[in-house]
Amino acid sequence: MVLKVSARGQVPPFIVMDVMRAAAERAAGGADVLHLEVGQPATGAPQAVIAAAQAALARDILGYTDALGIPSLRQAIARHYRDRHDIDLDPERVVVTTGSSGAFLLAFLAAFDAGDRVGLATPAYPAYRNILSALDLRPVALEAGAADRYQATLDLVRRSPEPLDGLIVASPANPTGTMLRPEELAAIATHCEASGIRLVSDEIYHGITYGALEATALASSDEAIVINSFSKYFSMTGWRLGWMVVPKRLLRAVECLAQNFFISPPALPQHAAVVAFQCRDELDRNVARYRENRALLLEKLPEAGFDRLAPADGAFYLYADIAHLTNDSQDFCRRMLADIGVAVTPGIDFDRARGHHTLRISFAGSTDTMAEAARRLRSWRR
Ligand SMILES: Cc1ncc(COP(=O)(O)O)c(C=O)c1O
Repeated sequence: MVLKVSARGQVPPFIVMDVMRAAAERAAGGADVLHLEVGQPATGAPQAVIAAAQAALARDILGYTDALGIPSLRQAIARHYRDRHDIDLDPERVVVTTGSSGAFLLAFLAAFDAGDRVGLATPAYPAYRNILSALDLRPVALEAGAADRYQATLDLVRRSPEPLDGLIVASPANPTGTMLRPEELAAIATHCEASGIRLVSDEIYHGITYGALEATALASSDEAIVINSFSKYFSMTGWRLGWMVVPKRLLRAVECLAQNFFISPPALPQHAAVVAFQCRDELDRNVARYRENRALLLEKLPEAGFDRLAPADGAFYLYADIAHLTNDSQDFCRRMLADIGVAVTPGIDFDRARGHHTLRISFAGSTDTMAEAARRLRSWRR
């Protein structure tokens, strides 16, 4: 008897993970591989976070914590909104999660019912669509172009092909790095609240910007769900810790879901992350490196034929339109890895309809890696 595999479990792969595996296999075989596919800092956690983790290991039994997170961390996160955004946030509204990935699961379950339609600009971080589908929610693609800076502008939201129950925005965004201006985000948040659309604002790349102003949806709406993480600016991807700020009315639902799904977020990273907000000098040095990498690639990539790039306002990605080079980005990236050992991510991970002629380059690695990748790409394309 062949037993069934559920239809909702059949989500597409997260292609960047497949690229990472192919790159790792080549590296294991002795090849010199440059990793421009991974969307994670090449640095570890800040020193003070590591010291706090060591102290917690020595001191604490590290049992389950409160399902919503330890009070000291929820308070530190609330203080962060006071310090960075001048927003008075009740720590009760802060929910600590297993990465922002855990926050999406809880947020979508708490805010939406099966069949609800949730809009998102494409190209987009693929897990939004895939988590929504696995939960029997309906992702509604708002096809964004260069003129929209690849963002879910208010105009695109208003012209959605289907009525929306929810909307996901990300600023800065993955894969494009583009941002919504503070007044644009405010207008979207106000529109959503007035129209009964639950806004989910993914603010995971906050802190990694290159001159543009970053805003939080919390400034404009108490009905928005704001999601963030220690993975990117805080350089703690593997610690699997994130947070969200939820409207009061959703809090109990989120708490009950979190209790049942996870019991609690992991204890050790929580104790360590309490001091993460005091490590800005160290973390801003990482951002200075991303800024240098970005400038280097913006100068060198056009020499290799990659000259149609989305404006990378923030995050650590360049999204390149390569329609003049290929109409099969997956094959193009495979050849790039095989020929010159440079791993990048094909655009179809982010945009099933148009990603066959785009790719994403991550500049989260070292400046030496970026310089060498640019050199190899130039000679490959000659
Ligand atoms: C836009 C965006 N949101 C969320 C995530 C998930 O991050 P994490 O679960 O590590 O917080 C990522 C990871 O790359 C991302 O790019």
